[in-house]
Amino acid sequence: MNVNNLNRIVLEIKNNFQHDFSGHDWYHIERVYTNAMKIQEIEGGNVEIICYLAILHDISDHKLNGGKLNNGGSEAEKIMKKLNLDHTLIARVCPLIDEISFKGSGVSDKNSCLESKIVQDADRLDAIGAIGIARAFAYGGNNDRPMFVPELKAQDHDSFEVYANSKSHTINHFYEKLLLIADRMHTSTGKKMAKERHDFMVLFLDQFYKEWGTPQSL
Ligand code: ADP
Ligand code: NI
Repeated sequence: MNVNNLNRIVLEIKNNFQHDFSGHDWYHIERVYTNAMKIQEIEGGNVEIICYLAILHDISDHKLNGGKLNNGGSEAEKIMKKLNLDHTLIARVCPLIDEISFKGSGVSDKNSCLESKIVQDADRLDAIGAIGIARAFAYGGNNDRPMFVPELKAQDHDSFEVYANSKSHTINHFYEKLLLIADRMHTSTGKKMAKERHDFMVLFLDQFYKEWGTPQSL
């Protein structure tokens, strides 16, 4: 792998994400990359594709780009071409970018290869556990969402459009996505890594409801 090219793309991405306060900053990308490499060591897959896919996976997420769905592949292609990266690499990485993001509780995942499954697993690991909890509340605060509204019950989505347009409180996000992730991991290494993080979220929710208690009428 050409390390010089990798450094150039890392610089570009660090620059793009430096003002993010929604849990999608450079450190998220870096953790996804690290987790993807840990999974790759055991599961195999092309290191270069996994590496570029991890670094570029949130380049144009619908949550960050004003609502455009499936726009990441074309944005990644623009950046990779601007940096004169290898055409074969561009052709292999870009079609995978829009496979990575979660599309809704009732929408099945469509991953065309092992590399896409590994990066999706790595991205999802960072959405659960202690870091996942912190990111969910950071996202909620950044997007004007209430922490919890007990009267609003959990919602499911049967299309990406419905999921992308839903606006609920952050505790609902645990039921529409975060608690479903452990069962939706693709690789057995990812599944093992998800277990501890999943259990921690269950513990967190128990404690959250315990502290919230039953509201007294005012
Ligand atoms: P994906 O593309 O699969 O959603 P991301 O890397 O974009 O993965 O990160 C998703 C993270 O964004 C979630 O784990 C959560 O922290 C945050 N997020 C997305 N939607 C919501 C929401 N409705 N409420 C709270 N957090 C959210
Ligand atoms: Ni991500």
